[in-house]
Amino acid sequence: MIAVTGATGHLGRLVIDQLLRKVPATQVVAVVRSPDKARDLAERGVQVRQGDYEKPATLDAAFQGIDSLLLISSNEVGKRLRQHEAAIAAAKKAGVQHITYTSLLHADTSGLSLAPEHLATEKALRASGIPFTLLRNGWYLENYTENLGSALQHGVLLGAAKEGRIAAAARADFAAAAVAVLTTPGQEGKVYELAGDSPFTMAELAAEVSRQSGKPVAYNDLPQDQYEETLRGFGLPGPVAQMLASADAGIARGELDDRSGELRRLIGRATTPLAQAVSVGLKGA
Ligand SMILES: NC(=O)c1ccc[n+]([C@@H]2O[C@H](COP(=O)([O-])OP(=O)(O)OC[C@H]3O[C@@H](n4cnc5c(N)ncnc54)[C@H](OP(=O)(O)O)[C@@H]3O)[C@@H](O)[C@H]2O)c1
Repeated sequence: MIAVTGATGHLGRLVIDQLLRKVPATQVVAVVRSPDKARDLAERGVQVRQGDYEKPATLDAAFQGIDSLLLISSNEVGKRLRQHEAAIAAAKKAGVQHITYTSLLHADTSGLSLAPEHLATEKALRASGIPFTLLRNGWYLENYTENLGSALQHGVLLGAAKEGRIAAAARADFAAAAVAVLTTPGQEGKVYELAGDSPFTMAELAAEVSRQSGKPVAYNDLPQDQYEETLRGFGLPGPVAQMLASADAGIARGELDDRSGELRRLIGRATTPLAQAVSVGLKGA
């Protein structure tokens, strides 16, 4: 039995979709915070179980009889280490044989403010004694292409990434990597640095948006503190603005770039090109 946490999230849903092409629904368990949001998954024959990282007893029950667990990292930044530790402890109690965890690209050397929670989770996994596999995911292309409306409206993309390259890939590519690991034996102890085939700069992203939309869009690079302040001015909560500006500073240092080709090899195909993601994003803008 394979269980996927965060199964009602963006990545989790893509994982379940792709998993169902490879294994029978009777072998798939969707672990979700709100079963109400997972009715469609139940209709497809997937077992839906409630599992809230904040309620360890629900995790104990959700992981019963599970052989292989995909622990999709929580989106509650700042609370995640405790939440992930709760999930790992429940998996240990339930006798889970293997955990695959969605970590961060180069989590062991990254200066991003997101890195310490991921690295500490990796350490908790190692300490648990449960065989594990790390999917160190790079940035999603969708981070850049799902909200192009305001860039088109104002003719500008803002950031603090300088000329740093971003080896982003689509969520569907990272989902395919997770499914490959979940369905291929011999993954114990492997650490995958997962990133897109064609790293791009923010200026190149702006140029691609201009090319496809026919509207001029420029990249305006700001100092990190000014970018953080601008994001707060747009109404983003302080910690989110800080995290995004810190991530851009990391991009400027090359920390979200990667040329290993591990994602391409793991999924057996090229990763989604930027132009394709921009095209999809522009349709929704
Ligand atoms: N690589 C990147 O660029 C990038 C970008 C954003 C996030 N991430 C990380 O990758 C993860 C997956 O990405 P995503 O796009 O699928 O994010 P997402 O759509 O926000 O999904 C996060 C999932 O975590 C679940 N969750 C949050 N708190 C929980 C709790 N207390 N108990 C149980 N489940 C909980 C959410 O449940 P609900 O469905 O009930 O809300 C949701 O299913 C994120 O959570 C984050 O750690 C990576």
